[in-house]
Amino acid sequence: MRLNENIAISTSRVLLVPYDAHHVQQYHRWMEDPSIREATASERLSLDEEYENQASWRESRDKLTFIVCAPLPRDGDDGDVPSTGKKGEAVLAGVGDAVDRMVGDVNLFLSPWDGDDEDQAQRGDEKETQTYYTAEIDIMIADPKFRGIGLGRAAVATFLYFVRRHLDGILAEYTGSLDTSAAKSKPRLKDVVAKINADNKASIVLFQALGFKQRGEKNYFGEIEMVFEGFGEMEEWEETSPSVMGDTYRELVYDRSRLKGRVDDE
Ligand SMILES: CC(C)(COP(=O)(O)OP(=O)(O)OC[C@H]1O[C@@H](n2cnc3c(N)ncnc32)[C@H](O)[C@@H]1OP(=O)(O)O)[C@@H](O)C(=O)NCCC(=O)NCCS
Repeated sequence: MRLNENIAISTSRVLLVPYDAHHVQQYHRWMEDPSIREATASERLSLDEEYENQASWRESRDKLTFIVCAPLPRDGDDGDVPSTGKKGEAVLAGVGDAVDRMVGDVNLFLSPWDGDDEDQAQRGDEKETQTYYTAEIDIMIADPKFRGIGLGRAAVATFLYFVRRHLDGILAEYTGSLDTSAAKSKPRLKDVVAKINADNKASIVLFQALGFKQRGEKNYFGEIEMVFEGFGEMEEWEETSPSVMGDTYRELVYDRSRLKGRVDDE
């Protein structure tokens, strides 16, 4: 998705940056770990395939991806501290998200919603049809030493806060429509779903704490679905608070100027 191409999100607990080519080598190292592939239901890919994936995710209208990083040092919150990766209203690519600060990723994958609902048809006087979509969310905190300290929960809460704020734009990009308000059939996000291995207690606890509820039973693959119903109907993402997502939520410019000449070398 193009929507987040130049946006970094900073809170006191986490930094999210758009998944870029200079992240791919570290991403590939993470995915070489069989336990990570199992937990995330991923296939082993070559480095070249991982580069292709990164590029295709940027182009795909149905996928929104951020790399999760350790939060920017507090000193960088207010001023211009380039050594920390923060420069005014920008996050310096390759500094704030240097390899040793990268911890995982968080994704949203959109698809048509295939449930039944009377709203799917025309709504009475409003003479407006609603077309529903669903979104799958995935989170990975790849390095075990960064797990269990609240980064996963902060990343998901911050990400969902961003998704709710930008939902119209996200759905517009997904449906290929420039102006959803003018479209005859209004796109709506019905729910957000996490598909989790039933043995993955940390992930289940994480999503439960954010208001997700189990739907149905464990499937053939040993997965359960944790669902946040009505996500798109909320005024804002209410299930979070500064204590979870971190305070001083800010959307900053993702500044790639320092990367010039580096990406090709990597
Ligand atoms: C699952 C995962 C995302 C959790 O992220 P994390 O940063 O380690 O989790 P957090 O520190 O934010 O903790 C979230 C909650 O889970 C709890 N938790 C963490 N590890 C746990 C465990 N092994 N058993 C039970 N609860 C656990 C925490 O106590 C916390 O709950 P609390 O706030 O009520 O105390 C992370 O471990 C991970 O990426 N694992 C590998 C990939 C994966 O499993 N991805 C999910 C696929 S659906």
